[in-house]
Amino acid sequence: MTEDTLSPASITNGLETRFIGQNIIYYQSVTSTNDIAKLEAQRGATEGTIIIADEQTAGKGRIKRVWLSPKGTIALSAIFYPHITLLPSLIMMASLAVVHTITATANLTAQIKWPNDVLINGKKVCGILIESDVKGSNTNYAVIGIGLNVNLKLADLPEIALTATSLSQEMGKVIPRIYVVQRLLAELERLYLILQSGGSIYEEWRDRLVTLGKEVKATAGDVKYEGTAESVDPDGSLLLRQPGGKLIKIIAGDVTLRE
Ligand code: BTN
Repeated sequence: MTEDTLSPASITNGLETRFIGQNIIYYQSVTSTNDIAKLEAQRGATEGTIIIADEQTAGKGRIKRVWLSPKGTIALSAIFYPHITLLPSLIMMASLAVVHTITATANLTAQIKWPNDVLINGKKVCGILIESDVKGSNTNYAVIGIGLNVNLKLADLPEIALTATSLSQEMGKVIPRIYVVQRLLAELERLYLILQSGGSIYEEWRDRLVTLGKEVKATAGDVKYEGTAESVDPDGSLLLRQPGGKLIKIIAGDVTLRE
């Protein structure tokens, strides 16, 4: 398939948002949209500015991992200036926006693996990297980076073929990325406005977590834990019941589900 274009004009034409995606910076190829977004935020880009690329050559994942984003995928980063109290909710907002987008555009059911991996049928379809700059009690900026495998043939990428999937692979056909981007921006804005008006999205995020009730291995920094993922706190942290009965709180990290 010839790839559809992600040019700013094609995205803003018919985009149903007030501010997210109304300013778009597009690259055919770029190192990392998150890195560009951080520079643009430091220069004072308007809230909702989007950096989007057809391809990243040095895409960044969480915990210093590499993120592959060849042509056919979506790599975008959105700039926000949230109140510091909203920072923990951005993880929930981003993953829920992706889940809703997948349902609306591909009619597929997606789940969230704590903290914010989006899965279809147990395989990762989207990764989210949030980077923020906080000084004291002020947020200078927060960048939400989203990598979504839309039209990707996993057979071409043996290194992730067993653990990752794409919308085209799940649907058996390619879909126009432009609709997916437009929907994603609208969902991000809808959820952000709920948060800004004092609403909560915690319960919805918690209920979408495939992690809860499962035996997991969790990594937080260099420390590894095992236990049952019992619940999550409204601040986004994971509550893990260790085999000895102790409940520990993991603020940031990663989990592997032990089937
Ligand atoms: C992960 O699952 O480890 C997070 C992956 C995040 C990838 C996205 S793609 C757009 C943005 N730019 C980056 O360099 N990373 C994020």
